[in-house]
Amino acid sequence: TVITNIASLVTNDPSLGWGSPRSSKFESGGSSPLGLIQDAAVVIDGDRVAWTGESSKAPATDNRVDAGGRAVIPGFVDSHSHLVFAGDRTQEFNARMSGRAYSAGGIRTTVAATRAASDEELERNLTRYLREALRQGTTTMETKSGYGLTVEDETRALRIAAHHTDEVTYLGAHIVSPDYTDDPAAYVALVTGDMLNACAPYARWIDVFCEKGAFDGDQARAILTAGKAKGLHPRVHANQLSYGPGVQLAVELDAASADHCTHLTDADIDALANSATVATLLPGAEFSTRAEWPNARRLLDAGATVALSTDCNPGSSFTSSVPFCIALAVRDMRMTPDEALWSATAGGAAALRRTDIGHLTPGAYADLAFLDAPSHVHLAYRPGVPLVSEVWRRGVREV
Ligand code: NIG
Ligand code: FE
Repeated sequence: TVITNIASLVTNDPSLGWGSPRSSKFESGGSSPLGLIQDAAVVIDGDRVAWTGESSKAPATDNRVDAGGRAVIPGFVDSHSHLVFAGDRTQEFNARMSGRAYSAGGIRTTVAATRAASDEELERNLTRYLREALRQGTTTMETKSGYGLTVEDETRALRIAAHHTDEVTYLGAHIVSPDYTDDPAAYVALVTGDMLNACAPYARWIDVFCEKGAFDGDQARAILTAGKAKGLHPRVHANQLSYGPGVQLAVELDAASADHCTHLTDADIDALANSATVATLLPGAEFSTRAEWPNARRLLDAGATVALSTDCNPGSSFTSSVPFCIALAVRDMRMTPDEALWSATAGGAAALRRTDIGHLTPGAYADLAFLDAPSHVHLAYRPGVPLVSEVWRRGVREV
């Protein structure tokens, strides 16, 4: 298949490096890390990209698709979501918008609803949100457990998630289970013992909410270390609601990603910039909790790799829309449209330690989105407009 007449194609050519785009590059008029090709074509062979280049140089074929002057970008890689849950938290959101603060305690509401739900209901919800995300251009979605908090309920969440994505994260350490409020140490023992043993076969990653009101640095280290010994790779909910040890711990354990990064010291920024740990920013959470924005500029200017994801969950960020998060990142976190697009595609892939997605160069999976716009800049320039008009995954049109 040859897709021709693409007004502008974002390739994220990795020959330009996996490091995030540095503002200095743009200021000095240097090459864009997006590997942009104007008036472009893409050749797809099976589930992979075989060739990209100028339309005029595309090989002749019977199987031509005319993009009609639309822009084409790599499918979004949403490296952080919590989609196995039941119920919603409309009342909590309403209360927050009347001035109440967000706290991790709300997670208990969703734990109760999730435990009470059938497998079928959880699967129906999950597939609904995955489909919603796909329609908005997301072709890879990581998702977590964390609303079961018993051996059976955590295992069930991961089993259901694993039917639908390869990027599955064990988050038994979301909060201390309500069944263990008097004995958090016993809950940590469960999370690192029987629960881990039951969950590990279904997951690739282990995550901890390292925060006051959830797990402290020592507990988080014990949990992530136990997960590593079982072959799971760490990622951390770090420094969301307050300063804390999460980011330093993530770097110490070579976590693929430290997520949220809203409250960072200079030492946290330095640690991220000098590591392979990606800083994943989740502006949907700051939007929906009316919190202060993470300082993306400080991270980017220090040379950290930044990813942008939705954190889709019923409590702190009930959006499945990466385009919405891109608009927030550009308007409120001072990212350039190029940086935001890179972070939502190549950055997400880096946060999942994947080299086969997040870019459109030969050999990558043919995961791509067409925009009803001449360039990716319109994702931020035209906020709230459903610009994603067609989505292909593994070389097959799905939307
Ligand atoms: O990423 N921070 C912890 N977990 C979620 C919130 C989950 C919830 O409120 O239900 C987050 O924001
Ligand atoms: Fe989260």
